[in-house]
Amino acid sequence: MSRVLVTGGSRGIGRAICLRIATDALARGTLPKIVVTATGASSDLQDVVAALRELGAEATAAPGDLNDPSFPARLVAQAGEFCGGLDAVVHNAGGAIAGSLLKTKVQDWDTVFAVNCRAFFLLGVAAHRPLRQSKGVLCAIGSSAAETVQPYLNAYAPAKAALKMLVQQMAYEWGPHGIRVNCVSPGLTLSRSTESVLNDPKEQERTGAQIPLRRIGYPEDVAGVVAFVLGPDAAYLTGENINVDGGLRHIGTESLLNGGSADWAAHDAARLRPESA
Ligand SMILES: NC(=O)c1ccc[n+]([C@@H]2O[C@H](COP(=O)([O-])OP(=O)(O)OC[C@H]3O[C@@H](n4cnc5c(N)ncnc54)[C@H](OP(=O)(O)O)[C@@H]3O)[C@@H](O)[C@H]2O)c1
Repeated sequence: MSRVLVTGGSRGIGRAICLRIATDALARGTLPKIVVTATGASSDLQDVVAALRELGAEATAAPGDLNDPSFPARLVAQAGEFCGGLDAVVHNAGGAIAGSLLKTKVQDWDTVFAVNCRAFFLLGVAAHRPLRQSKGVLCAIGSSAAETVQPYLNAYAPAKAALKMLVQQMAYEWGPHGIRVNCVSPGLTLSRSTESVLNDPKEQERTGAQIPLRRIGYPEDVAGVVAFVLGPDAAYLTGENINVDGGLRHIGTESLLNGGSADWAAHDAARLRPESA
């Protein structure tokens, strides 16, 4: 899998996925061609493109808002042109506008569903032709929140649950076309979206101590499993969701998040910022 489109690749988990895909392709002796997206042409996005080129990959940035329903098709066309076809699309862009259900605005609900779930549908439809040609792979980045109730994840948890079902629907319809579709679901992973509560090493340790594997997750943990899902060892895997959460969902995240001093409500409110915010 060397011709890949990665959404939300400017930082955190998406950045780690980009770097892992490039490293693996180069180790196999193939030239990675990677198109990376984020909302805007930020320095983060430029930085990951530079890091990929430094590794030896061909890489380009294609910024745009995945809440715009016309963007996924344009993005896939641009990626296909840059890469000369597509072997995989990883939809990692996502996030929450967290709060209680009673205070959730309709527009925020729609924004969260659009980026986390609808965009994967639109990317998949747009990429169907090139992926059918390459016998390629679609990979969605879900969340352990799709399976466990967590405080304030009003629209986000339902959107990730819908994403998981969409993966199964796509796998069923497009398996006969040679396209595999899977979901990789992180647990609590250190990234910008969680750093407001996890950047303090003490808080990382306290939180990690309650997780069965006794640590929080890192973007590279997720990237490694994405690499497996895209690779030949997963050739007979489709319609699946793989949780990469250190066992977090087995302990119930509400007790984990409420057990510490961190202000999770403030943290969550700072995630995805919609126009209405
Ligand atoms: N971190 C965790 O603990 C955790 C846990 C479970 C699941 N996840 C999932 O893992 C994925 C990555 O998480 P992360 O923590 O690494 O996220 P992050 O650091 O917040 O990065 C999110 C990425 O998505 C992009 N993005 C967000 N909204 C977008 C939009 N409307 N259009 C285009 N790009 C958009 C961002 O672009 P900009 O840089 O331009 O904003 C950024 O590149 C997400 O799907 C998230 O839901 C994360």
